[in-house]
Amino acid sequence: MGRAVRFTVYTLFPALIEGYLGDALLEKAQARGLLEVVTRDLRRFAGNRTNRVDDAPYGGGAGMVIRVDVAAAALAEAAADDPPPEETILLSPAGEPLTQALVEELAGKRHVMLLSGRYEGFDARVESRVTREVSIGDFVLMGGELPALVLLEAVARLLPGVLGDEASHREDSFTTGLLDYPEFTRPAEFEGDVVPDVLTSGHHGRVSAWRREMALLRTWQRRPDLLEHAALSDEERARVASWNAARSDERTAEDDDAPHRDGA
Ligand SMILES: C[S@@+](CC[C@H](N)C(=O)[O-])C[C@H]1O[C@@H](n2cnc3c(N)ncnc32)[C@H](O)[C@@H]1O
Repeated sequence: MGRAVRFTVYTLFPALIEGYLGDALLEKAQARGLLEVVTRDLRRFAGNRTNRVDDAPYGGGAGMVIRVDVAAAALAEAAADDPPPEETILLSPAGEPLTQALVEELAGKRHVMLLSGRYEGFDARVESRVTREVSIGDFVLMGGELPALVLLEAVARLLPGVLGDEASHREDSFTTGLLDYPEFTRPAEFEGDVVPDVLTSGHHGRVSAWRREMALLRTWQRRPDLLEHAALSDEERARVASWNAARSDERTAEDDDAPHRDGA
């Protein structure tokens, strides 16, 4: 059996988390003791009869803010767990971007606490009370439940025993520092669109060389920013340099062909 990671998710909408976790691979992972998820309702810390956890922002403005004492009570409760969380994460669009490197780091923890907001988010004094703030992208959702599930699922699939095929995540996009290579399955020809010959050749060496080349090419075409930190051989760096040179030659030729503004 693999090592279990526990997530404790604090939210105003526990049913959103529980509904997603009750199906498919995540449900199986929990049933097999590989993953443990505890969902707790932040409203328990409201401290008033109306169960309100939010209040109007100082200085005015639209929306409501979740109180710092509510978050502090959740953090104190989680700190008393056995084991206490090694990471307490506030989900926020202003956090550090969630990357595969961070996901891999979190997969090595025993207990991670997630604090998911709503409305205008939490009182800013919560920021210094957590170990990190994490964003799942440069867009704003209505609440932190989807970000919590995104983070949790990305970690869960790395835990030993959760995926059927242990090797299946080793060449995923970002894990190798590159985007994943393109995959194909039957039929070998669809509406004249054929699968590359090399994949049906049965030659493992050629298949893996082609896949690596395609991963490099796709990354260069779609996410050249990733190449800066990817582990590339000297030969691969030279290949990228030659693609860059060819592209800049093409651009120069296009500029030369473009009509000049003065009509010359
Ligand atoms: C409407 S948002 C608050 C947005 C906040 N006023 C801002 O502009 O940063 C409410 C909650 O959704 C969650 N949330 C929304 N977008 C997110 C994102 N991209 N990453 C992580 N959490 C997000 C956070 O927990 C946040 O407290």
